[in-house]
Amino acid sequence: MKTSKLFILLITLLFLNVSCKEQAENNVNVGTIDSQDSIEKKITDLLLKMTLEEKIGQMNQYNGFWDVTGPKPADGDAAMKYDHLRKGYVGSMLNVRGVKEVKAVQKIAVEETRLGIPLIIGFDVIHGYKTLSPIPLAEAASWDLEAIKKSAQVAAKESSAAGINWTFAPMVDISRDARWGRVMEGSGEDPYLGSKIAEARVQGFQGDDLSSSETIAACAKHWGGYGFAEAGRDYNTVDVGTSTLYNIIFPPFEAAANADVKTFMNSFNELNGIPATGNVFLQRDILKGNWGFKGFVVSDWGSINEMINHKFAENKKQAAKLAVIAGSDMDMESYVYVDELANLVREGVVDESLIDDAVKRILRVKFELGLFDDPYKYCNEAREAEVTESKEIKEAVLDVAKKSIVLLKNENQLLPLKKEGQKIALIGALASDKTSPLGSWRIAAEDNSAISVLEGMQSYTGNILNYVKGADLTIGKAEFSKELNINTKDKSEFAKAIETAKKADVVVMVLGEHGFQTGEARSRTDLNLPGVQQELLEAVYKVNKNIVLVLNNGRPLTIPWADEHIPAIVEAWQLGTQSGNAIAQVLYGDYNPSGKLPMSFPRSVGQVPIYYNHKNTGRPTLPAPNEVFWSHYIDESNDPLYPFGHGLSYTSFSYSNLTVNKISNDVFKVSVDLKNTGKLSGKEVIQLYIQDLFASITRPVKELKGFQLVELEPNQGKTITFNLTKKELGFYDNDGVFKLEPGEFKIYVGGSSKTDLDSSFNVE
Ligand code: BGC
Repeated sequence: MKTSKLFILLITLLFLNVSCKEQAENNVNVGTIDSQDSIEKKITDLLLKMTLEEKIGQMNQYNGFWDVTGPKPADGDAAMKYDHLRKGYVGSMLNVRGVKEVKAVQKIAVEETRLGIPLIIGFDVIHGYKTLSPIPLAEAASWDLEAIKKSAQVAAKESSAAGINWTFAPMVDISRDARWGRVMEGSGEDPYLGSKIAEARVQGFQGDDLSSSETIAACAKHWGGYGFAEAGRDYNTVDVGTSTLYNIIFPPFEAAANADVKTFMNSFNELNGIPATGNVFLQRDILKGNWGFKGFVVSDWGSINEMINHKFAENKKQAAKLAVIAGSDMDMESYVYVDELANLVREGVVDESLIDDAVKRILRVKFELGLFDDPYKYCNEAREAEVTESKEIKEAVLDVAKKSIVLLKNENQLLPLKKEGQKIALIGALASDKTSPLGSWRIAAEDNSAISVLEGMQSYTGNILNYVKGADLTIGKAEFSKELNINTKDKSEFAKAIETAKKADVVVMVLGEHGFQTGEARSRTDLNLPGVQQELLEAVYKVNKNIVLVLNNGRPLTIPWADEHIPAIVEAWQLGTQSGNAIAQVLYGDYNPSGKLPMSFPRSVGQVPIYYNHKNTGRPTLPAPNEVFWSHYIDESNDPLYPFGHGLSYTSFSYSNLTVNKISNDVFKVSVDLKNTGKLSGKEVIQLYIQDLFASITRPVKELKGFQLVELEPNQGKTITFNLTKKELGFYDNDGVFKLEPGEFKIYVGGSSKTDLDSSFNVE
């Protein structure tokens, strides 16, 4: 069946080619690609038919004609792109979306080029396509791998119905620096949690069958070290030691590779003096060498060309040479491979075998996606119309949105709100904002398509709800690629907010960051509530102390004043399309919050980078009262405001009976009793941390090595077990060798990284 479909297609292609005069002269008979042949044979056969230019064409990716997600290149006009498409000099396009548009470019590739090789169509399906899930950092706070996987799965379903077959996600960069705007796109500070989530997302996007028209190829990015940009400034220099590279930065990438992620994207930054795009160690030695990665590496937007700005390449030609030698297989929007590679090969500077290797990798993914069987398989108008906003997608994004919310503080059980007889004041520009909850990666989502908190709360009709904005967060139009104008002066609506708050039983204040304040190129030096929001919070507090602060933000914020004064604080991030419904359900107790922070919240920006899995140092504790000679600040505590793993519930849990049993020399079974000691049923994320007490390379004070999400009814108890093996107990030394050293280990189990319920054991 497949063979005959392909045969008809190829006959059609040959027939259509005849009508294209220019191509007809060069027409070769590509013959039938026998679908019984193994993919490897098909690739080899096809490669033999390709000219050098056609091979390089496969390595060339152009942006489409509308959405731009990076600096607009000078030489990228549409006429040139169409010309190159027709010549077979383009292997992929990004930011072409919608069946009609994708079909149009695919048709050129398939019907007008000599060999008819289909394009692979990439898009930033970061947390959804049109219907958005929470930003990835928020989803990480759910610690719910099934919900995260489902979120990626529905994103694949929706985007694949719009012609897309490759997403530039998941971003698996570990970061310890909340100043970096892109923390919103990752899973936070921990490599273990980050690895589990990387795996879940890859599985969600790619499914069990990549050739299904509802799954898409995933891309682990940004390889590597991008999350360690100095001073949290995006695109900045990265200089990290071997131990951090192997033990912190690499693991989620390796997990993605092991989950069979089809592509990697390299990164804008230099790593220890070598731009990632020209980095042989990263791309050839580790990724394609040690990890045996069979997919392809796409450059980041213009990153091959940017090696000139890094002062690593002198010109485009050298940039092309360095990138291809280092293993960057596809050029995104640098126009460097298409212009320079052929000459480099002809001059003998670049060996054609490197080109062949890159092309094989790219063709392999195209074959695996089934694009050669049916290049239009993602282009079904009926499916496109049907799938968007389908019940399944809506339910999945609402589900993960609720699970992503973290209850940071809840004094006097102010939450959940009573459902009747209350006067509630709702304050804050973000409370009625229907766009900010979509975050900054929302290229295909419509403005104003999120459910606002106001709308979510309006669906609970037993109370009297009065909404006042209080103050604008931004001034003027907010645009994706432009600097935002934050309101730092206009407090003209404060008085109205204060009056409304005075009369209320409870005040719900929705404060935080605009959707375009986090994401790429959105670093901050100040992590406080932006604009006049802190002043608004304090002004309202003066007249009514019963405040529930709902945070909408894409990164950890510094909110020590709120923590000291405000009785209830809910971290609600940017939760996507169903944001307001999810928040209202948590506020009213229809969903008992279970999220836990995937990143530490600093007390002050001066503590950044701050992370729970730090080292001990030579002077870890106060030597004697008032002495200064220990590793500390004279004006701030060392502790974060809220630690990694922190998150409360409307019920409470107790932990007891932590025991460790030795199964073999390097396998230990940990068990602990968990009990729901409160009055409501609820979920707890049980976290297991280890500390390798003495080692040839210093080890962190705590390392997450297991977690489980457990749901318990009031008074219900359960014994939870974990296995610790060499994989969890070992570490990479400074030669990149994984080892487990004998000695004493401590373990900690509890509901956050701050837990002190501990035990210990010896590895012999
Ligand atoms: C980002 C990538 C993204 C690419 C394409 C770049 O600016 O760093 O993460 O996938 O643009 O939009």
